[in-house]
Amino acid sequence: MYHLAWFQGCGLPPWNPDIDGPFVGNVAREWATGENFSDLARALERGGFTFLLMEDTTQVDDHFGGTAEVALKRGFFSPKHDPFPMSLKMAMATKHIGFAPTISSSFYHPWAAARMLTTLDHLTDGRIGMNVVTSTQHRAAQNFGLDALPPKEARYEAANEFCEIFRQLEAAWEDDAVLIDYDSGYYADHRKVHRIDYQGKYYSSRGPLNHIPGPQRHVPMVEAGNSPAGRDLAAHYADAIIGNCLTVDEMRELIADMRDRVTGHGRNPRDFKTMFLCEPIVAESDDEAKRRHERMTKAKSEPPAIEWMRFYLDLVTPSIDFSTLDLEMTVADFRKSMIDPQMVSIVDKIFRVPDEMSFREVLSTRGPMLDLGLIGSPETVARKMDEMMEEVGGGGFLINAPAGRRAVVEICDGLCPVLQRRGSIRSAYEHKTFRENLLAY
Ligand SMILES: Cc1cc2nc3c(=O)[nH]c(=O)nc-3n(C[C@H](O)[C@H](O)[C@H](O)COP(=O)(O)O)c2cc1C
Repeated sequence: MYHLAWFQGCGLPPWNPDIDGPFVGNVAREWATGENFSDLARALERGGFTFLLMEDTTQVDDHFGGTAEVALKRGFFSPKHDPFPMSLKMAMATKHIGFAPTISSSFYHPWAAARMLTTLDHLTDGRIGMNVVTSTQHRAAQNFGLDALPPKEARYEAANEFCEIFRQLEAAWEDDAVLIDYDSGYYADHRKVHRIDYQGKYYSSRGPLNHIPGPQRHVPMVEAGNSPAGRDLAAHYADAIIGNCLTVDEMRELIADMRDRVTGHGRNPRDFKTMFLCEPIVAESDDEAKRRHERMTKAKSEPPAIEWMRFYLDLVTPSIDFSTLDLEMTVADFRKSMIDPQMVSIVDKIFRVPDEMSFREVLSTRGPMLDLGLIGSPETVARKMDEMMEEVGGGGFLINAPAGRRAVVEICDGLCPVLQRRGSIRSAYEHKTFRENLLAY
C-alpha cells in the first residue's frame, strides 16, 4: 500500500469563471467561512487520503512589479486563512484524515510552534502534523520584523535549530510525569518535567512546554525542500519528504539518497516516507483526458497563465522581479544575467531546459506542478500510479489538483475507489493517529 496526500492552499481558490473555467462555484464569496475546506476534507477521507498538506505564505505580495495589484486582482496567495485554525475546523468535520499545515521555521519561534501543535494534537485527537518550510519572500520577513529574508543557507541552519528545539520540547515531559494522584494531591511530578536549555545561533529556549504531551507526542513533520540542505533537514527530523521529481530516475535517486541520509541520522528508513508531487489529469475516458490535457497545454500560453507563472516565479525568487523580464529572452541569457545562488530547487527544475528556449516558452510549458504522465481515465491513471510506485518503491503521491469541487470529485470519487479496489491505497484507516497512519505499509 502507498499513500495519497492532497496539496491545498487555505485561501481564495481560483474564482473567476472567465479565467478559471465554469466550475468555480461561488467560492469568491464563500471561501472565508471555511465550509468548502471542510467539504474537501470529508471528500479526501472518503478517498482514503492519509493527509492534507496545507500550503502557506504570510504576505500580500507587492514585489511583483512593485505593486500589490496583480496579487489582489487575481487573489494570488492572498487572502488566505491561517492553516492552523483551518486544520482544526477540518478536523472537526472528519474522523481519520491527518493535517499538515505549513509553518515557516524562519519566522515562528519553535517554543510557540511546539505549544500550538501540542494543543492541536490534543484537540484533533492525534491528527495534526506540520509542513516545515523556510519561506522565500522578503515581504513575509518584513511582516515578522526582519529587514529582509535571510540567505538560504542561514534559513536552513535556523530550520535545523527550530526542529531540534521542537523535538526536545516534545520530549521534555517524561511518559510518567502526569500522575493525577488524588491521594497525594499531585497532578504532575515536577522531577519528570525538564528544561531543555537550548542555546542556538538563531533560536534559544529554556523549556519545558507548559503542556502535557499530545496523543502523538511526536507530531509528524513533512518537508518539501529538495536541495541537499532540505533533504538533510527532512532526514534528521521529518517523517516524510515530498519529492519534486521530473522523471522516474529522479524519483529513484531521491529515494536512495533519503534512505542513506535517514540511516546516517541513526534512524530506521522504514519510519520515513518519500512521496512525490504530481498533478494527474483524470477524466471519463483516456480520450477525454487527452483532450483536456491539450486544452490545458494550450491555455498555458494564454496571458492569464503567463501572468500566473511570472507571479509564481517572482514569489519564490526574491532577488528577481519576474514582472519585467523580456518574454523573448533566451534561457541562456536568463542564466547569464540572473544568477541567484539562493534559487530554490523547484525553480531550478523549471529552468532545466535547452539554452535556446525562450522565457515565454518556459512559462508556457513548464511549472511547479507535474502530471508525470498521469493522464487518463481513473483506471488508466490508477494503473500508471501503481506501475510508478512499483518501479521506484516510493511512499505515494502528493496530489495537486485544480482547486474546486469538480476536481475533488474526479480524484476522490473517480480515481480513489479504483486505487482502493486495486489495494494500492487504504480503504479504511487502520490507526487512530496521523503518524501511525502515515507510517503504515
Ligand atoms: C509540494 C511543495 C509544497 C511547498 N509548500 C510550501 C509552502 O506552503 N510555503 C512555502 O513557503 N514554501 C513551500 N514550498 C517550498 C519548500 O518547502 C522549500 O522551502 C523550497 O523548495 C526551498 O528549498 P529547496 O531549494 O531545498 O527545495 C513547497 C515546496 C513543495 C515542493
